[in-house]
Amino acid sequence: MRKPWSLILVLLASAQAIEMQVEDPESVKRASHAVAKSMLSHYTGMNPGDVPGNLPDPYYWWEAGAMFTALIDYWFYTGDDTWNNITMQAVRWQAGDDGTFMPTNQTRTEGNDDQAFWAFAAMSAAERNFPNPPEGQPGWLAMVQSVFNTQAMRWNMETCGGGLRWQIFSFNNGYHYKNTISNGCFFNLAARLAKYTGNQTYADWAVRVWDWTASVGFMTEDYLFWDGADDLKNCTEFNQLQWTYNSGVYLLGAATMYNVTNGDPIWQERTQRILDATKVFFTEDVMYERACEPVNTCQVDQRSFKGYLARWMAASTQMAPFLFGQVMPKLRASASAAAKTCTGGSDQSKCGLKWTSRQWDGSDDVGIQMAALEVIQSTLVSEVDPPVTSKIGGTSKGNPAGGSEPPNPRPHRLTRSISMADRAGAGILTILMAVLVFGTVWWGIYE
Ligand SMILES: *[C@@H]1O[C@H](CO)[C@@H](O)[C@H](O)[C@H]1NC(C)=O
Ligand SMILES: *[C@@H]1O[C@H](CO)[C@@H](O)[C@H](O)[C@H]1NC(C)=O
Ligand SMILES: *[C@@H]1O[C@H](CO)[C@@H](O)[C@H](O)[C@H]1NC(C)=O
Ligand SMILES: *[C@@H]1O[C@H](CO)[C@@H](O)[C@H](O)[C@H]1NC(C)=O
Ligand SMILES: *[C@@H]1O[C@H](CO)[C@@H](O)[C@H](O)[C@H]1NC(C)=O
Repeated sequence: MRKPWSLILVLLASAQAIEMQVEDPESVKRASHAVAKSMLSHYTGMNPGDVPGNLPDPYYWWEAGAMFTALIDYWFYTGDDTWNNITMQAVRWQAGDDGTFMPTNQTRTEGNDDQAFWAFAAMSAAERNFPNPPEGQPGWLAMVQSVFNTQAMRWNMETCGGGLRWQIFSFNNGYHYKNTISNGCFFNLAARLAKYTGNQTYADWAVRVWDWTASVGFMTEDYLFWDGADDLKNCTEFNQLQWTYNSGVYLLGAATMYNVTNGDPIWQERTQRILDATKVFFTEDVMYERACEPVNTCQVDQRSFKGYLARWMAASTQMAPFLFGQVMPKLRASASAAAKTCTGGSDQSKCGLKWTSRQWDGSDDVGIQMAALEVIQSTLVSEVDPPVTSKIGGTSKGNPAGGSEPPNPRPHRLTRSISMADRAGAGILTILMAVLVFGTVWWGIYE
């Protein structure tokens, strides 16, 4: 039974949840809790009759995968298991019986990057020794291996000299776009699987994806990343937008390869140069999304991207400890600024998009909330152990052959022909997307 005075203290503490001192881990944990709780006010998938792992409109399926990855890190960084059960339920539900994260409900739009963002939840669960799924169900590691195997089979040599396409199914709009994030996710997963399992096949794939990314030109000579290119033009004309998360996904992959190779100077240089190049995403050490924040055009997905750069910068310091002193001042400054935006709503914990403004902007958005959570909790990275591996400490069950053989349920959309209405819809969507992307995104470069 709580004494009344301690109840008052608790109430006081929760009203000031966001008063965060980045040097004080307890205040960072309190802030993380408040921001995460506010983020989850959007999620109802755990209720009877609702679908575990789905967020309501306007949030796309992949973002829910990202959200549960953030919650696995949340548990690991803070020790608070409040949301472990809903995380376990959501990730297992969306992984499906074969563990490939290819639920038929998502067939119409599922890209390789979407599938990978759910696989990241399973990868983090394996690396952090998150409680394992029950016996007889695919383990976290098996899920990642299954996703890896499905993607390795999709590596496409017909155009651009290799690479993954964005979309998985040929009838979907975006099938002819080869994008950096899909390939970056595959690279990141391959490197982390190599680290976790010690299996050289994954390391070889990581090298292959890296080499292709550089040679096709998705990575620029100064280690920044374009968004992607049309494969009907053999990847010769790039969409030159540069998003924070592309740098982040390659940063952690490179840092992990540095670790896997016991400090190979080639991977050290690559890791260092990607980090150096991220300076364009910071102003006075505070991160911002320069392709959309200055012109106020950040779309729903884009509002979450900074969170992944923060997540992967922090994780990189565990794989490549030489980064630690360079990364932490940026994470700390960004976390402090982000926390200052989290004063909104009835819970006084809704965050704003622009950390550089240090104030709430009226938003109540899962991606914004998640990005703030990621950057705030990532400052705790020095307090926690590095990832386990199957040799040292890991308990996750694998299946190296997962996802590579039938039965892999045929999505029902494949079995029916695409109607004219669908085609027309896809065409209109393409035009709309082009107008949106090229019409509203800001191209200027500034330093
Ligand atoms: C999580 O689920 C387990 C098993 O169903 C249950 O024993 C436990 O009480 C739940 N924990 C929370 C915090 O809901
Ligand atoms: C697919 O949609 C159906 C109908 O809404 C739902 O019952 C089911 O849980 C969904 N499956 C997944 C994996 O989301
Ligand atoms: C397409 O690009 C790849 C790699 O950049 C190159 O090797 C190949 O020759 C190109 N194909 C055509 C038809 O230009
Ligand atoms: C290593 O990974 C490859 C690729 O998935 C797989 O075919 C092979 O069986 C794995 N080897 C071991 C020893 O697990
Ligand atoms: C690889 O990561 C481990 C765990 O963080 C670390 O102890 C080790 O020093 C790293 N290896 C190198 C070459 O930095």
